[in-house]
Amino acid sequence: MLTSYFYCNFANSNLFYLKEQLNHPVFKAVSEVAAQMQLKCYVIGGYVRDIIMERPSVDIDIMVIGSGIDLAKNVATLNGKDTKVKVFKNFGTAVFNYKYQDKVWQIEFVGARKESYRTDSRKPIVEDGTLEDDQNRRDFTINALAISLNKESYGELVDPFDGLNDINKKIIRTPLEPDITFSDDPLRMLRAIRFATQLDFFIQVPTIESIIKNADRIKIVSGERIIEEINKIILAKKPSIGFKLLYQTGLLKIIFPEFIELKGAEYVDGKGHKDNFLHTLEVLDNLSLHTDNLWLRWSAILHDIAKPNTKKFVKGTGWTFHAHEFVGAKMVPDIFKKLKLPLNEKMKYVEKLVLLHLRPIALVDEIVSDSAVRRLLFEAGDDIDDLMLLCESDITSKNQEKVKKYTTNFKIVRQKLKEIEEKDRIRNFQPPITGELIMEVFGLTPCKEIGTIKNKIKDAILDGIINNDYQQAYDYMLKLGNKLGLKVAKN
Ligand code: CTP
Repeated sequence: MLTSYFYCNFANSNLFYLKEQLNHPVFKAVSEVAAQMQLKCYVIGGYVRDIIMERPSVDIDIMVIGSGIDLAKNVATLNGKDTKVKVFKNFGTAVFNYKYQDKVWQIEFVGARKESYRTDSRKPIVEDGTLEDDQNRRDFTINALAISLNKESYGELVDPFDGLNDINKKIIRTPLEPDITFSDDPLRMLRAIRFATQLDFFIQVPTIESIIKNADRIKIVSGERIIEEINKIILAKKPSIGFKLLYQTGLLKIIFPEFIELKGAEYVDGKGHKDNFLHTLEVLDNLSLHTDNLWLRWSAILHDIAKPNTKKFVKGTGWTFHAHEFVGAKMVPDIFKKLKLPLNEKMKYVEKLVLLHLRPIALVDEIVSDSAVRRLLFEAGDDIDDLMLLCESDITSKNQEKVKKYTTNFKIVRQKLKEIEEKDRIRNFQPPITGELIMEVFGLTPCKEIGTIKNKIKDAILDGIINNDYQQAYDYMLKLGNKLGLKVAKN
């Protein structure tokens, strides 16, 4: 399909945007060098899709009928001798960075392939191919669009599968029979759902049916590749779209079975509880309106993860999920490990938010003591604002009266937190007396009394018995030492 077709389908603004993008000096340079080398080359894939959709992108893929590595090296020389070309010989690809308009662009060159297109595959490329071969083997019609960089047809769109129309109609579908496309690389099943979520597109029926049929094949894909796609779904504007599709296709059950456990509602004596899967997705969507923090979004996904394990029906009371926040926090490391998520401070942060997610609402009570507020500030530290966002997103009642009440309650909690923080500076507070000082004052070598004294000083400050002040804490330490029968060695 040729340029004229392309032009008549697009509004002037799109056309102007596309033309502007094709003025990128890298495209001019590639075109020039390719002509000298008598090679045919095209911009292809996600970059083309994104400029058509006017989504700015700095990742450019150039596909060459021939050696992508040779072309990359020659283009890089034009760009100055400091340009470092990274070559991946096994995959026949080469990449370099290019600074333009205050941005760093990543320009990747790849030779056209007959086999499935996978830049991250451990398998080396098998056979060189034509433009048509290469487009046939791409994942979706919207990702198979190519724009010519050849002099005689510069800027012409090559769209054998009507991908442009699919962009207009918001459709995800595979260029070949979906079973073939997915068997080439089963990760594409997840990619279909990821694109549907990110772009708010529909997955065409035969394509979704093929995902359902082939879901089990996701097991041959590495956990690292899977979690990359899952995280992209989580970072989308409305992540629930992706999780509902993952659930419907059977992929979620394989990838993240703990999440499936939240699905459904049980009834005893006519009393049911809410579907915690749908509730969690609502919390996640609510939260996503306010933050791009992936780990805070993960906290939303996991905040009620232990509800199925802790669920009980108590006669006269109804359904209870006692201690689900403690059990849930304990489940976080295992889930992170299984899902190949980082086992570092990000995990600790998620654990902490899951553990504390019920605490702010408990502070609503009129008679709540300053001490309870101080304790929460101390335990949450700098993450208190994130915790409040999570809790506010946790309000998913359909009853507007209740929502109003909860929202007002959270305003009260925020006010209390603010007042106590301003007064006592508890957030990130370090007890003013160190273990070294206690040892020095009482002439101690490391022993359990030091920990006891330190903790009691901390508790006294949090409970408001003494102020967060060095002298008061020092005097209190002397009192505690005296009670424990310790002698002052140095005052
Ligand atoms: N591709 C594919 N099959 C895959 C991965 C990638 O066919 N499993 C092709 C698609 O044509 C895709 C291109 O390689 O457009 C580039 O891949 P990638 O950078 O992973 O995706 P993008 O489409 O650029 O999207 P994003 O940058 O959002 O990941």
